[in-house]
Amino acid sequence: MEQYVIKGGIPLKGEVGIGGAKNAALAILAAANMTDETVRIENLPDVRDINALIEAMRDIGTRVDRVDRHTVMVNGSCVENCIVENENMKKIRASYYLLGALLGKYKKAQVPLPGGCNIGSRPIDQHLKGFKAMGVETKIEHGFIIAKAKRLHGAHIFLDMVSVGATINIMMAASMAEGNTTIENAAKEPHVVDVASFLNSMGARIKGAGTDVIRVTGVQRLHKSDYSIIPDQIEAGTFMFVSAVTGGDVLLHNVIPKHLEATTLKLLELGCKVREYDDAIQVIGPEKLHSTHVKTMPYPGFPTDMQPQIAVSLALADGTSIVTESIFENRFRYVDELIRMGASIKVEGNVAVITGVDRFTGAHVNTPDLRAGAALVIAGLAAEGITIVDDIYYIERGYENLDRKLRQLGAKIEKVSGEKEIQKFRLKVG
Ligand code: UD1
Repeated sequence: MEQYVIKGGIPLKGEVGIGGAKNAALAILAAANMTDETVRIENLPDVRDINALIEAMRDIGTRVDRVDRHTVMVNGSCVENCIVENENMKKIRASYYLLGALLGKYKKAQVPLPGGCNIGSRPIDQHLKGFKAMGVETKIEHGFIIAKAKRLHGAHIFLDMVSVGATINIMMAASMAEGNTTIENAAKEPHVVDVASFLNSMGARIKGAGTDVIRVTGVQRLHKSDYSIIPDQIEAGTFMFVSAVTGGDVLLHNVIPKHLEATTLKLLELGCKVREYDDAIQVIGPEKLHSTHVKTMPYPGFPTDMQPQIAVSLALADGTSIVTESIFENRFRYVDELIRMGASIKVEGNVAVITGVDRFTGAHVNTPDLRAGAALVIAGLAAEGITIVDDIYYIERGYENLDRKLRQLGAKIEKVSGEKEIQKFRLKVG
């Protein structure tokens, strides 16, 4: 098992480049199967979830050639059958995007029920509701969702809750359905817009992405495209909190400041200085953070994927803060780990009441899920002494070279496995 070992207490300073958005990339890769022509995708993050999806696509016959670490050429003309059996697809949430993509093109698909982070029950009823309205019959057998349509047709779909996954999945299938589809109460996240732009670049006819009503006119065929994925707002936000919590001064490159507004506003409330440039953002952490309240909301609200990172910051702020998680039901599993580092947090249902403490002390902690893992790394960077973060497998699902990027900013962090290597690190950092 790989771990991070961190010696905290250093204000992190310098510049860091942000990679492509994992959650946009997953859908875009799946959507690239929808044309028989070759699609070039740039700014693809080299993280576990992406590589797992590429492997599953190769298993069904898709050709995926790597041009370089962040660029692939995808050709879906050789998809042999629409049965996705790859074991790893059970573990990642976004395997469901193959459902929308294959249904759109082939009117049939069989995909394992999705897994992903354990942050509460994560049904896909809204995806299935949308598909059903479009004429798709679905059943669940032996852990698979089996979907097929005699005729895939447009429909008027009102989502019962704002769902990023359902919005994207329905949008993909609708792109190649007969007639018009309207998705109401659609998610407005930047990656929904990015996937729509990608599909449009292949000849789809999607309007309204980024608002809560998306209109799609189905087309018979999609064509080749050359596309670059947007920057990852969650990776960017994570580094913004790294700077805030360590009293650092970090300039992030390759970001879209508009996508980071909710995070930026909270950082200002926390007492940070934030400077926005065209495609960069600088965050300077204060000597002492201020408390504030935050509630996670669909975009443009404060993202649930940044909730653990802001909670870590508030645990070091003066006064009491309230964090309300309104998207997922089980997203405070990192709190017990943070308490081991000296935090004072009480969780009741979907609310965490955080009383700021002066300092964290390093401890041996477990990563419960992807974003919580990143938050524990941030805590370790701020803590006195040594922190060991176990199960960094989860973190690597969504962060490329997190340790290397942090070292670039002056952090003392290394990837290790086992006590011997931890001892070596201890001797090295003194
Ligand atoms: C995506 C992101 C995830 C992020 C989340 C919210 C990917 C791969 N993952 O997840 O990182 O935290 O958006 O921004 O892009 N729901 C239902 N039925 C459905 C679909 C969703 O009840 O059919 C509920 C979910 O349980 C959750 C809420 O709706 O409570 C929002 O989920 P959704 O936006 O769909 O999240 P994901 O697409 O799974």
